[in-house]
Amino acid sequence: MSSRPPISRRRLLGWGVGACAAVALPGCTGRQSATPSASASGTPQTPSAVELEPQVRDLTLRLWAEASDAQIVPGTTSPVYRYQAEVLDGDPASVQPGTSYLGPTLHLRSGQRVRVNFENRLPEGETIVHWHGLLVPQEQDGQPGDAIAAGSSYDYDFVVENGEGTYWYHPHPHMHTGEQVYRGMAGLLIVHPGTADAAGALPTGANDLALVLQDRTVASDGSLSYLTSMRDQMMGFVGDTLVTNGVAGYAVSVRREAYRVRLLSGTNSRTQYLTWSTGDPMRVVATDGRALPQMVEVPGLLLTPAQRTDLWVDFSGFDVGETVQLRTANTFVESGGMGRGMGAGMGSAGDAALDLSGEVAATFQIADSPSAPGSIPESLGPAPSVLAEDAVNSGSPKQFVLSTARMTHWINGTQWEGRVASEVETVRAGTVELWEFVNQSPMAHPMHLHGQAFRVVSRSWDSTAAEASWASIEPGVVEEGMRDTIIVWPGQRVQIAVPFGPHLGYFLYHCHILEHEDAGMMRNFLVT
Ligand code: C2O
Ligand code: CU
Ligand code: CU
Repeated sequence: MSSRPPISRRRLLGWGVGACAAVALPGCTGRQSATPSASASGTPQTPSAVELEPQVRDLTLRLWAEASDAQIVPGTTSPVYRYQAEVLDGDPASVQPGTSYLGPTLHLRSGQRVRVNFENRLPEGETIVHWHGLLVPQEQDGQPGDAIAAGSSYDYDFVVENGEGTYWYHPHPHMHTGEQVYRGMAGLLIVHPGTADAAGALPTGANDLALVLQDRTVASDGSLSYLTSMRDQMMGFVGDTLVTNGVAGYAVSVRREAYRVRLLSGTNSRTQYLTWSTGDPMRVVATDGRALPQMVEVPGLLLTPAQRTDLWVDFSGFDVGETVQLRTANTFVESGGMGRGMGAGMGSAGDAALDLSGEVAATFQIADSPSAPGSIPESLGPAPSVLAEDAVNSGSPKQFVLSTARMTHWINGTQWEGRVASEVETVRAGTVELWEFVNQSPMAHPMHLHGQAFRVVSRSWDSTAAEASWASIEPGVVEEGMRDTIIVWPGQRVQIAVPFGPHLGYFLYHCHILEHEDAGMMRNFLVT
């Protein structure tokens, strides 16, 4: 593949995981003076970790979705949909109110039994809640087939099988997920260690921040514009304003200490390349909720819709009053060289390097505090246990061809047809399979599987028309650990090793560009 910035980093497209030590870790040494950007609505809070009870108790929640309003840009109020929740039984700190239109942050514990009475209090339309990344039985998974009408409720009852990490929840009704998420329905779901687990060595409490990265187009009357053109529907909707934790111009004050910063891309379609304004590398400690074996340093970070990536950030080297900006560039490409699908006038160059300078997504203001450098643990988590050679079909991956034709997107020439699965989509619990996404479409698709996280085994090319744009973002693709959502660039073949089970039944896999998902780029696999 093409040139890469000279940064010390393990590249692992394959299985040689674990041995190399993380690179040496100076504190942030970059410097940049900039005017602090004003926050849109006073001082937005950050959904950070809370003080939970020491003993894990079972939890019973009421969760509902309702029409409401929120301030997203200064000076105007937007009509939104939002989740609300209350604790009926259990630790009251489990529900932390969301900022702006965001739903509350749900703080769950590994091993905890959770019951949720969900009510659809929307003015109209079906909905259902999906716990993105949690390993749960089919009827707890919040699938389109379980969507409930306005005025109805759905009872969830599951045990948190995942370890500690960053997850989220969002709606999943067929054809309306994009609109409902865009109107505001999304929230963080943070799994904390069960009492038996080691607490972990990453910063906690006030030094545990979370940023939900999204975009919106807010009209002058405050209303949210969505899908105003055929192009938005086909390509995926990208808002013209960056919105972090529900507000434009997000800023947060930090002490001169080390932080864990959890990033969630809650965008409908925008795949982002994130960088620090200081030029410092991004220090990645977890991907899609799972700790990496060791910290991985990258010059920038690729974040597709629905991906989570946790960073370790040390602000101790900055001066009081300095600001550090998290910048983000949209990485959208249409590969002209693919030459199919979109029709005249829509194709353009996927074959040029991308401009990654980006815009400001969040500003960290360094508060007056003593400088207290942190240190990152040598070892963060276990090496991923899923091995390509364990696959029952190792050597002959199952193929899933992504294509664009007749103004829509396809998986193996098929689309959503309810709770059915073909032979290739039928798998056995307790096995690992090799799957290969083959992208013959002119645009990138972030593919997500419900259930267990998986490993990326390899990336190769069918058509190299989009190779230059890939080369510009490839240093920011972090796949050393487990993922539940991965980008498939135009012309690429991406092989993944997926463990299936333990839960039997139908589970979804789909493109997480919500407009593609809503248009039918979504199927089931059946675990038998
Ligand atoms: Cu965020 Cu079907 O998932
Ligand atoms: Cu999911
Ligand atoms: Cu897609």
